[in-house]
Amino acid sequence: MSATPRRPRAIRARRVAIFGAGKVGRALAAGLRRAGYRVTLRSGRRAVPREVDADVIVLAVRDGRISEVASALCGRVSARAVCVHVAGALGPEALAPLARSCAGLAQMHPLASFASSARPPDLRGVTALVTGDRAGATGARALARAVGMVPRSFPGVDLVAYHTAAALVANGSAALAAAGAELLAAAGVPVRARDAMLGALMKTVAVNVTALGTSSALTGPVRRGDAAAVERQRAVVSARAPGLLPLLDALVRAQLPLAKALGDAPPGTLETLEALLAPKKSAPARQPARGSHPRKARPGR
Ligand SMILES: NC(=O)c1ccc[n+]([C@@H]2O[C@H](COP(=O)([O-])OP(=O)(O)OC[C@H]3O[C@@H](n4cnc5c(N)ncnc54)[C@H](OP(=O)(O)O)[C@@H]3O)[C@@H](O)[C@H]2O)c1
Repeated sequence: MSATPRRPRAIRARRVAIFGAGKVGRALAAGLRRAGYRVTLRSGRRAVPREVDADVIVLAVRDGRISEVASALCGRVSARAVCVHVAGALGPEALAPLARSCAGLAQMHPLASFASSARPPDLRGVTALVTGDRAGATGARALARAVGMVPRSFPGVDLVAYHTAAALVANGSAALAAAGAELLAAAGVPVRARDAMLGALMKTVAVNVTALGTSSALTGPVRRGDAAAVERQRAVVSARAPGLLPLLDALVRAQLPLAKALGDAPPGTLETLEALLAPKKSAPARQPARGSHPRKARPGR
């Protein structure tokens, strides 16, 4: 007697409702759909529906609106659902209004830069910081893995410090690229070439940071202790883009401890560089000679 073939168990695609059709909301929706999830993407500014029929609810609205949207969703989500937000600096407590309405709450922050809805970043290998209660974190981790991210949790992590690091690196790099483009313009590089040149350069730095670590990714005149080169750079910036001099100086200063640890600079050269950056002492104000009186301003002049 031949065995009756087993009927494949119907796999119910998990349903995800995303509130907030901005840069992150759209990127997650596209990634989850590719992974086979059934996704509903809703505006984060419109009124929420009376009932949200989903296993996972993602709030991808602006940080200041998370608690407001969570309050609006109160009593409208399934008791078995988990609710997740994607902000970096806020823990799962930002969703507190939903605590009694659903099975779990979590934060799932993608540590990536989403600058355009039309060009979402490749999320493969991106860290997703997950904090939350057991059910919430389990749901958030599954969601992160579905789009190729690597979920990570660090008990007791200081979210404001964590998010400051994220913002400093992501947004600071964008501002740095803009500063670089200004100098390339001053150098005579045509506008059409600048962005591609800088983007490719930044990719090599990113690869070095991943492969070698932040402490070994430094290159350039500061690492080599070439104070003369840094002096020339300061001179050209002072002349061509003086607004960028404080940025250049701050970044040279930030490189000094890295260069010291790497040990490639000849002895004394990093001290020369440090002196180059030291604020110049202003000349002391001239004291009036004894017995003399400050001259009164003459009226009418
Ligand atoms: N961008 C990133 O790189 C990044 C990275 C990690 C985490 N996050 C987090 O992801 C969440 C969403 O960020 P996002 O970058 O996706 O923000 P976003 O593109 O600005 O979209 C977020 C929400 O802002 C609304 N919105 C769009 N334009 C607006 C305007 N002019 N005035 C008021 N509201 C407007 C959108 O409403 P509609 O839905 O109605 O269109 C959307 O719900 C935040 O919690 C953020 O911290 C962002």
